[in-house]
Amino acid sequence: MDGMKKIEWAEKHMKVLSRIREEFKREKPLEGLKIGMALHVEAKTAVLVLTLIDGGAEVFITSCNPMSSQDDVAEALRSIGVNCYAKRGMSEKEYYEALRKVAMAKPDIVVDDGADLIYLLHTEFTDFKVLGASEETTTGVIRLKAMERDGVLRFPVIAVNDAYTKYLFDNRYGTGQSAIEGIMRATNLLLAGKNVVVAGYGWCGRGIAMRARGMGANVIVTEVDEIRALEAVMDGFRVMKMKDAAKIGDVFITATGNRDVIREEHIRLMKDCAILANAGHFNVEIDVKRLEEISTSKREVRKNVTEYVVDGKRIYLLAEGRLVNLVAGDGHPVEVMDMSFSDQAMAVKYIAENYEKLENRVYRLPEEIDRRVAKMKIESMGIEIDELSEEQLRYLNDWKIGT
Ligand code: ADE
Repeated sequence: MDGMKKIEWAEKHMKVLSRIREEFKREKPLEGLKIGMALHVEAKTAVLVLTLIDGGAEVFITSCNPMSSQDDVAEALRSIGVNCYAKRGMSEKEYYEALRKVAMAKPDIVVDDGADLIYLLHTEFTDFKVLGASEETTTGVIRLKAMERDGVLRFPVIAVNDAYTKYLFDNRYGTGQSAIEGIMRATNLLLAGKNVVVAGYGWCGRGIAMRARGMGANVIVTEVDEIRALEAVMDGFRVMKMKDAAKIGDVFITATGNRDVIREEHIRLMKDCAILANAGHFNVEIDVKRLEEISTSKREVRKNVTEYVVDGKRIYLLAEGRLVNLVAGDGHPVEVMDMSFSDQAMAVKYIAENYEKLENRVYRLPEEIDRRVAKMKIESMGIEIDELSEEQLRYLNDWKIGT
């Protein structure tokens, strides 16, 4: 079965997670716990699921996006008895029904990506105790910090996204490679020589800009934050307003985490055959609703490519404005998700062992766990690094130095 083969391939290249899995098999840190998950159901995610099961947990999982599941992987999980409700191409209603099924299992610990499941556990399913949750992505962490600020969070959350071994690699190199890959798979067009406009210079935007440049594109960055804009300038990119970039861009990629980044005023300025893609978690960055309204025709011209005609010009929207890397591709590269999902597995174990000490707040993954994952990763790559000598340690701690 294809799904199982995909899982085996991912497993082979997730060396750190495999080590953690062996530990989980021996130590059973999750014995008797129910874990509710809302993640993109694809092969790497399945390896995380298997790790948690080997740790003793019962897992209930659905997708965190109606379009990102891979049905063969979901089927493979179901075939080995996992409670998996994910299906590619769910309607919004079906998507929330599937999340509700996970919530109805009354999970002890939650692993979320985007915080839709955690949101349901604060609105519709509030009559049972959740020990804690871990959150995968920037958008989810922003949402959860707003819940913390408003004093409504009812259990502790580990912001896995904010771990060094997550955002520095997954958001940057993961999104960088997979967003470009999704666009290339969807279009089969050349990036070299094209004007690629990257909206947002956070960790994801940086990765996309860096990789687009590597493919020979002329990269333009748009930003609202003056510090990030400066960084982009000094990293060698052109920075301008979206309304100026709109006139010259060939390919537009949004990665801001905000809504209406590309809207009617921009679309009307675009060149014939401009390509629009989104790499942010939710499908709100490109105003697709307005694009539908102002277009005079719409048709699918390739899988994951929809052509709209606006003012007589063709505008190509990829993956319906949803995460292009997961809808038109397989998501982030395996070795990158190895770290992100090792962080997730360790966060779940940490919650299971420490929930009594935690308050209803958003926490970083403890630094010793973050560093352990980095250490295991570097070991798995066969790389050795230097250690500080006693003398060097003393030097670093001596504030009287030079007197
Ligand atoms: N695969 C599984 N989860 C993913 C994520 N959040 N981003 C990219 N690829 C993934």
